[in-house]
Amino acid sequence: MTIASRAKKVTTHTLQEMKLAEEKITMLTSYDYSLARLVDGAGIDVILVGDSASNVMAGNDTTVPITLDHMIYHAQCVVKAVDRALVVVDMPFGSYQGDSKNALDSAIKIMKETGGHAVKLEGGIEILDSIKRIMSAGIPVMGHLGLTPQSIYKFGTYSVRAKEELEATKLLSDAKALEEAGCFSIVFEKIPAKLAKEVTEELTIPTIGIGAGVECDGQVLVLHDMLGITKDFSPRFLRRYADLGSTIDSSVKAYIRDVRNSDFPNKEEEY
Ligand code: KIV
Repeated sequence: MTIASRAKKVTTHTLQEMKLAEEKITMLTSYDYSLARLVDGAGIDVILVGDSASNVMAGNDTTVPITLDHMIYHAQCVVKAVDRALVVVDMPFGSYQGDSKNALDSAIKIMKETGGHAVKLEGGIEILDSIKRIMSAGIPVMGHLGLTPQSIYKFGTYSVRAKEELEATKLLSDAKALEEAGCFSIVFEKIPAKLAKEVTEELTIPTIGIGAGVECDGQVLVLHDMLGITKDFSPRFLRRYADLGSTIDSSVKAYIRDVRNSDFPNKEEEY
């Protein structure tokens, strides 16, 4: 029996045990009750209420505009649906940078109002004070290094990060600093697979990759991307497990046709 299959409820300790046992950790995003119910029922280990909701749910170009209250709304919907997975809630841009008191207040608001189990923050040593202060209140923190979409205006592109020696060295020292501070896990987004492997081996906490190769301790994808609902985003790391966009398109077209032809509803579908 695996650690994942034994876990009635996944906790941060379950993830730590999974790393030790070299069992891969699975994580997907969710932002609403109905899909979170399906994702949790299918047996995912971690559900991330990602600030990618800004793009996927609200149609923004970046994750910058989403607010703390929006994130809380999405997290409330997800938490109601989940029986087993660990629910991690992204702290949105502006809710934790630069002021550790603001970070603590934001994290407490998330935990109190959503019932989520942990928060995720983007960045390394520059946000260490915020991370430590949040953890001083007993709130588990997941880190996020490499491509950090909230800093898009600093980097200018969503290209692969840490390809050069200097940035790779910083990523390693950031990862170690997050581990020492007490983060229970770190997401590595869009970094070379070789670097992700090296840092994963250096750390005792689990790493979760997105576009960071197979050697991370787990993997995460944005649910709507892997289900083929969002179509205008096709990075190399994205594997599409379904083409729900086409299924929805043909289903809606069939419905329109049936209504227009008076084929729907039929005698069996009326009272
Ligand atoms: O917001 C999000 O969906 C994320 C994942 C890409 C890791 O942070």
